Amino acid sequence: MEPTKRMTLRVLLAAAFALTAVTSHADEKKITLGFAQVGAESAWRTANTVSIKSAAKEAGINLKFSDAQQKQENQIKAIRSYIAQKVDVIAFSPVVESGWEPVLTEAKAAGIPVILTDRSIDVKDQSLYTTMIGSDFLEEGRRAGKWLEDRYRNDAGPINIVELQGTVGSAPANDRHAGLMEVIKNDPKFKIIASQSGDFTLAGGKQVMEAFVKTYGKQMNVVYAHNDDMALGAIQAMEEAGMKPGKDVSVVSFDATHGGFQAMVAGKINVDVECSPLLGPQLMTAVKDLVAGKQLPKRIVTNETVFPQSVAAQIMPQRKY
Ligand code: AHR
Repeated sequence: MEPTKRMTLRVLLAAAFALTAVTSHADEKKITLGFAQVGAESAWRTANTVSIKSAAKEAGINLKFSDAQQKQENQIKAIRSYIAQKVDVIAFSPVVESGWEPVLTEAKAAGIPVILTDRSIDVKDQSLYTTMIGSDFLEEGRRAGKWLEDRYRNDAGPINIVELQGTVGSAPANDRHAGLMEVIKNDPKFKIIASQSGDFTLAGGKQVMEAFVKTYGKQMNVVYAHNDDMALGAIQAMEEAGMKPGKDVSVVSFDATHGGFQAMVAGKINVDVECSPLLGPQLMTAVKDLVAGKQLPKRIVTNETVFPQSVAAQIMPQRKY
């Protein structure tokens, strides 16, 4: 072979070798994350799913995603399948707090680290998960309670509260109730006269509220809804019954979604306690750190605030979900 041709061939071979090396290196490095989502029950959850999917793409993480349709057994199945697929990290937002020991023990035995996002779990063995990223729901409940205390400071009462609870046994339902109780328990003018789950959905909130309106009517002073979707359902039920939500009855809600803000601007929700669903970027950073062998804090708390109706119109254009 002529020396110039031999030279060209060598250069081509070297380039092909370098390309193969780079490609296989990139393949080797791609992290696989298995994420078991609660479902699609609320506007909050939809925004949370978008945040996780887009952050994974941005971070170059291979995401395996499943939707449990608000059923713990579906989440357990999804986690077992991620264990069988030998993913690098498992993350999930637990539908309820209890019942996770068996499947998380299996993940631990397989050497796959687990990250909790959004909702916490109730386990004795804290080594079953690495970190928990999300809101402090107890503090959210306290914030709502403090708003109620202020609103009714000069009112002798009684202040009758009807509560629309989230999914039974879930961390936000348990803690938003407990946080409120912590604040109002020593003031006998506040009374929870009824409490029922609307499963965090608009339809559920509306259905429960229709029954409350029939039973309690004008006795109700406050609707304490554990999320915006249920608050919006309750507003529909009250309006259909000829009531003026936000005026005849104070409406306290959680999440601070676009829908919640629109209802505040319209004067129908009085206060919205923020709960941010935008957890994707923090989760991807945690996944990368974990795979790189870094130690993570056991709890990463989301920064949040409270939006009273008076600031809603000004803040609404900046809201991202
Ligand atoms: O776990 C977060 C809660 O779940 C949100 O407040 C609610 O909207 C969602 O469905």
